[in-house]
Parts: sequence; structure tokens; C-alpha cells
Amino acid sequence: MARGESGAVRVALLGCGTVGTEVVRLITDQAADLTARVGTPVELVGVAVRRPHRHPWLTENFGHLVTTDAGALVARDDVDVVVEVIGGIEPVRGWLLEALKAGKSVVTANKALLAEDGPTLAEAADASGADLYFEAAVAGAIPLLRPLRESLAGDRITRVAGIVNGTSNFILSAMASGGTSYGDALEEATRLGYAEADPSADVDGYDAASKAAILATLAFHTRITASDVHREGMRGVSSADVAAARRLGCTIKLLAICERVVDEAGAESVSARVYPAMVPDSHPLARVDGAFNAVFVEAEAAGQLMFYGQGAGGAPTASAVLGDMVAVARNRVGGGRGPRESAYASLPVRAIGEVPTRYHVDLEVADREGVLAAIAGEFARQGVSIAAVRQTGGINGSIDSTARADDAGPGPARLTVVTHSAREAALSATVAALADLDHVIGVVGVLRVEGLGRAVSALGMGE
Ligand code: HSE
Repeated sequence: MARGESGAVRVALLGCGTVGTEVVRLITDQAADLTARVGTPVELVGVAVRRPHRHPWLTENFGHLVTTDAGALVARDDVDVVVEVIGGIEPVRGWLLEALKAGKSVVTANKALLAEDGPTLAEAADASGADLYFEAAVAGAIPLLRPLRESLAGDRITRVAGIVNGTSNFILSAMASGGTSYGDALEEATRLGYAEADPSADVDGYDAASKAAILATLAFHTRITASDVHREGMRGVSSADVAAARRLGCTIKLLAICERVVDEAGAESVSARVYPAMVPDSHPLARVDGAFNAVFVEAEAAGQLMFYGQGAGGAPTASAVLGDMVAVARNRVGGGRGPRESAYASLPVRAIGEVPTRYHVDLEVADREGVLAAIAGEFARQGVSIAAVRQTGGINGSIDSTARADDAGPGPARLTVVTHSAREAALSATVAALADLDHVIGVVGVLRVEGLGRAVSALGMGE
């Protein structure tokens, strides 16, 4: 592999925002250690940014490296490794493809691009023998992709599930602690460098869905793209939902769940989904707060593993980028390359309607005879089994706990139903039918309840 006359591995950096700044700092501050670890110097030869005047620290200290022409930087003969921390699909896709086609290794944190078009990048890398590493694309500082791709390569992974978006977890934690509004928490997450350039990617679940696609692809040796992932964000989670979860002894988390599903006939498929769900307070995920991420991996031989750490932010994400940079630099020095894409299993994707989950359904109902029977009847009609029902308010109390029941009279009541495991399609049909019932004033909230237990369940055999 070509390297500089000095034998240095020459790195071009695309982007110098929150993460890129930390990458530059680490490469320069740790130059001696990196040289020792790689076996040759790692030299930063260029940094591409769109608007240099927005990067005073960079231009003051490394002005000679700065360019606004990322394409030209990627094409330079004196570049061995391209590190990309810009994000987004275009024009980044073209630059990374050019780099890979030219045999240059690529280290990227770009989850959106990998989840949309990872296979094209992987094919380009395989064709030229270049490396494509992307540990920083999922769960910030947490070493997670390399364990999936390498350490567990001899095992059979059955489930990868957890919290993979720091911003939404930061907001949900703030809402659960009661002190901060959704808007203030999002503003703070943005100020701290956790949120995406467009934070709707965080709160609407797109970022977590991209990460789920990457995790499922690696875990199940199957190409899964963002469009294969069922996605619901956390924007709709209200303080009433948070309070309802607390009453049940649960906490609401935005979860990414990737499962190997085996049906009664033994046929396998992959389910990948992102949604807010109630998690029992006794589960370790309920105690993952702020911008931290935590991911459970279940494998047949290894059993359950938990990965926990800082999931967002400049320095934590730069740590993962640097780890990859050292790995590809070592490969160059040794003349080898890292693992190729592994997508041999090609499992089909399980539709969300077929995925069994437990649900918490909150209804506002007229408090009169026959209501419970009518409601239970709708659940039964769709084959959704009820695990628990609780009524508050109405003739025996009030939804407003500060009002006295005898003052309130037989007003509307709140009915909370928790189901056994049910297919999404059946639950959706139940909720639609409930909304049409005369007795039902409104469906106040529907949230999944995830026990996050062992996962290779035969379809239909839920908790
Ligand atoms: N916006 C992302 C998050 C950054 O909040 O998790 C890390 O990928």
C-alpha cells in the first residue's frame, strides 16, 4: 500500500465541527502515542470545511491544512486515509466512493449514509481492497460494532436492543425528572453538541433508525437499510405519558430493537424497529440517563452482554473515530485489511404488523354500566389478551386527584389497560375500534411496554 516517503499514514479529514475538532486535537496531542501504536507516524495532511471563518481555532492553528475543496482533498495522491465527520448523504457519498475506489481507507461516523447506501460503499471497499470502518456511527464512544463484527463473529446473535440516541434520551430523562420542558431540554442537548444539525433526526427517530439498520446488518449478516426499520420518534411523548409510566413503575425510553425472529415453521426473519416504550424501572435501561447510550446484545453462546457509555458529543465520538483510524493505519502498515462486509444470510424483514409486543392503552371513557364489557369485547375481537385494567376517576373518584369525588359526580373516568403480548396489527385495529365506541371519549395514549427479556421467541409466544 502506498504511503509517504517518511512511511507516514496520511490522513484527510472531511468536516471539523463538534467531532472533527476533537479528532484534530487528539491526532495532534497524541502524535507520539499514535506513532508508537501504529508503528509509523499518522500525519494529518488536510482538513476540508465549507466555511473556514466559522472555525477560528482550526484556521489559527492549522491554517496551512485547511481547504474548502473536499473533492480535491480526497483525490490527492498524498492521502491514504479519509476520515469523514460531515454527515448527510450528498455530497459525502460521492467523495467516499471516490476515496474507496482509489484504494484509500475510509473512516466515517455517517450513520445516515451507511443506513441508506452502506452496501455500495462496502462493495467499493471490497473491489479495491480498502478498509471501511464506522465505529463512531453508532453509540458514540461505546465499542459496539467491532464486538458485533469481530468478537461475536463465531456466535449467533439473537437480539440487539437499547438506547442509541443520546439527544432523545437526554430529553426523556429531563422530562422524567420533572424539572425541564421538552423545548428547554432539546436546546440544552443542542448546546452540548449532542443533537444532529437538524434535531428532528433525533426526536423523530431517524437517527436511531439509521443506527438500528447498521446494528441489524452486522448482527444478522443481512443488508438492512433505514427504510426496513419501523420508526416512531419521541416527539409525541407527553408529560401525561411520563406520569402514566411512573404509576406503572416504568420509565419511557426511545428504544432501537433488532431481533432475529423464528416462526413456528422455523423460518427466520429480522425485525428492526425504533419507538418510545415503557421500560420497567427494575431494568438497567431505565437508569440510563442523559446522553448516555446502552445496548444489550444477546447471543446463543455468549448469553447477554451490555454495552454502556457516552453515546454522543465531540470527544466521545472522536474516541471511536481515532480507534478506527489507528486500526486502518495498522492495516496499511501490516499490508492487510479489516473484515469485509458479511451479508450472506440475506434474511427477510419482518413487517411491524407481525411483531408481538405488550401495550399500555389509556382511555377516557363515560363512567356507566357496560363500558368495561364493551371495551374488553373490542380487545377480545382482535385476539388481544388483557393483562390488567385500572380505572380512576368517574363516580368513585376524579381524574383530577385534587377535586373531591362527591363534588365531581359521575364524570368521565380514565381506564388504563395493559395487554399481554399482541401483534401490532391487532392492537392498531383494537385502538381504531375503541376510538369509534360511544362509551370512549378519547384514546389518550398508546405506548408499548418492553420487558426486554430473552428474545428468540417463536412468533405469537410472547410474555
Ligand atoms: N445526535 C446523535 C445522538 C449523535 O444524539 O445520539 C450521536 O450519534
